[in-house]
Amino acid sequence: MTVQARTIPLLDGPKVLNELKTLRSRQPVEYWAFYSSQLKGIVTDPALMVIPFDDHIVHRGHGIFDTAAIVAGKIYDLEAHLDRFLRSADRSKLRLPCSRVEMRDIIIQTAAASGRRDGSIRYWLSSGPGSLELTPAKSAEPGFFVMIFAGLSYPERWYTEGLRVMTTTYPIKAPLYAITKATNYLPNVLMQMEAKEKGFDNGVFIDEDGNVGESSNMNVAFVTKQHVLVHPKFDHILSGCTSLRLLELARAHQDQARVSGVEVCDVFVADACACCEMLLLGSSIKVAPVIQWDDQTIGDGKPGPVSRALLRLLEDDMRASDRLIDVPY
Ligand SMILES: Cc1ncc(COP(=O)(O)O)c(C=O)c1O
Repeated sequence: MTVQARTIPLLDGPKVLNELKTLRSRQPVEYWAFYSSQLKGIVTDPALMVIPFDDHIVHRGHGIFDTAAIVAGKIYDLEAHLDRFLRSADRSKLRLPCSRVEMRDIIIQTAAASGRRDGSIRYWLSSGPGSLELTPAKSAEPGFFVMIFAGLSYPERWYTEGLRVMTTTYPIKAPLYAITKATNYLPNVLMQMEAKEKGFDNGVFIDEDGNVGESSNMNVAFVTKQHVLVHPKFDHILSGCTSLRLLELARAHQDQARVSGVEVCDVFVADACACCEMLLLGSSIKVAPVIQWDDQTIGDGKPGPVSRALLRLLEDDMRASDRLIDVPY
């Protein structure tokens, strides 16, 4: 039997637009507003949230990003996220398309254009289009993109019953890449996929010396039997804005946090497993308890008091603190 080869159509602009719209109708998404320095404006139709294929962020992963939250009409802790964004840009040899103040203003205006009072803001810096080589084209103009979207959501059971995590079989990123929030998330993606395939909720990276690293898109922390909140050092993992803020809040409000102290140090896996609580921390997950790590039960196998206390502290901070920016809707 001969198979008739399908003739691939040559598309013009209107047909491309039509196909982009069809794609979105097959796969609805909750993307509410998108700014692109390349489009020089904001779009709200997800079909129009596009980027040229030859931008180095696409085909070489030469780009960085960060994510902040909109809570009750205000942006939380944007300055800390922008600090990390600029550090990542510098380490990635990425030029900025405009000043920090202008990027901040673009983020706020895009949030306002979305009309949404709760959601996530993710923004990217790309080295720009103009070549398919490794070094960006001489004429490449850096791109800045901002997406306002529904954010990542996790099952309620993670908070009420706790999560189960596994030690990933994938190697941890080298420190330079782990501390840079670049768009190269292959190890993180593979770790999470592996965990789900094996019936766990997520994975944990361990470094070559047997110290705890981090999870896919969240940090990991522990509570010792002496009630000390222990967090791995930030020299080989991402400086989580949530972790840094929680460590600060826990230090300042030890009674409310239900801890006797706070320590940032190397955390050996064996010591970590002997802790009474294990926590996952991040902008999307906030604070969630882990009750099982590989075949080891953590504490009494139930969410503990520190995870609940830290979640409360963080949620209060997200609603009333000096780290909130009003969105001018
Ligand atoms: C690898 C990794 N670690 C930790 C975090 C937590 O960082 P944050 O608290 O700023 O969300 C993230 C999330 O961005 C991440 O991607």
